[in-house]
Amino acid sequence: MAQVIDTRAEPQAALSRAMDVLGRGLPVAIPTETVYGLAADATNPAAIARIYETKGRPRFNPLIAHVADLAMAERHARFDPLSRRLAEAFWPGPLTLVLPGRPDSPIHSLARAGLDTIGLRVPTGFAHRLIAAFDRPLAAPSANTSGRISPTTAAHVTADLGDRIELILDGGPAGVGLESTILKVVDGTVHLLRPGGLNISEIEALTGSPVIRPKGAGATIEAPGMLASHYAPEAGVRLNATEVRPGEALIRFGGRALPGEAKASIVLDLSPSGDLREAAANLFGFMQQADATGAGSIAFSSIPATGLGEAINDRLERAAAPRN
Ligand code: TXA
Ligand code: MG
Repeated sequence: MAQVIDTRAEPQAALSRAMDVLGRGLPVAIPTETVYGLAADATNPAAIARIYETKGRPRFNPLIAHVADLAMAERHARFDPLSRRLAEAFWPGPLTLVLPGRPDSPIHSLARAGLDTIGLRVPTGFAHRLIAAFDRPLAAPSANTSGRISPTTAAHVTADLGDRIELILDGGPAGVGLESTILKVVDGTVHLLRPGGLNISEIEALTGSPVIRPKGAGATIEAPGMLASHYAPEAGVRLNATEVRPGEALIRFGGRALPGEAKASIVLDLSPSGDLREAAANLFGFMQQADATGAGSIAFSSIPATGLGEAINDRLERAAAPRN
């Protein structure tokens, strides 16, 4: 089983153990503000292969390279002025920018799944400290088996990948709880590839122009990881429920009770006060809890599609999509 080190109680031990494991070309589960990541040296093809292997992830799915700051990012990708403005405004934070890669970037093509673009992000907190110390970009997808719910606590990672990896760093529950928002600037216009933890209205407030969203649910899979069926719990998922059916778990929102909930296997409220930020932070953890009751399906009451609600609904639609 993986060793778990608490980054708050033992920051020095966490840092040196992580540097050792990363240096040996192995992945380490690390806390980030969005979700826990399965991090490995982005310049080492064997290390990247280990990530794909550990996650059971299809090879064509490119990984985000996590860097310490904008200066480090500029060594790996070419920034247009608008992308640089976004980076300056929102890094460190829950934003990934997809940019043309520099031909001399040491980020291995396996991490990029052969694309000539690179997804880059600067995380906050301990992840940031680790990257600065390691002084190389870390490729890090969410630390879960491919297609499963993204982990927001070290306990989630232990349950899913604990017997497949050597080290898990515990930094407490992820503050944002949703993956990063992925953007790509095309001809001076900001395109949304994946809604996530950075609110789109904040981006529009900065740029003064609308962010271009993909047309229709799942219409264009610009971020190859945006497969329709993703983020799936074991249980089925039923959206916009107005009542609870026998054998279901209920995840509701805004403190509103649903008919039939007395018979639910569990009743969880993403945010009794109707705060979408709180709902985002609770989402994946609650799906894990609901799943653990063994319910045949999880009923979700409707969640407003404004602000972070857009990203929450995107994740829920993927969790509810037909599976193969
Ligand atoms: O918050 C996050 O982004 C978390 C934490 C660990 O940083 N990471 C994460 O990684 O969500 P992952 O691998 O689960 O999702 C990465 C997404 C995928 O949808 C992938 O297709 C997309 O980023 N992506 C990465 N590089 C890309 C590129 N060059 N072009 C388009 N999409 C890209
Ligand atoms: Mg993921």
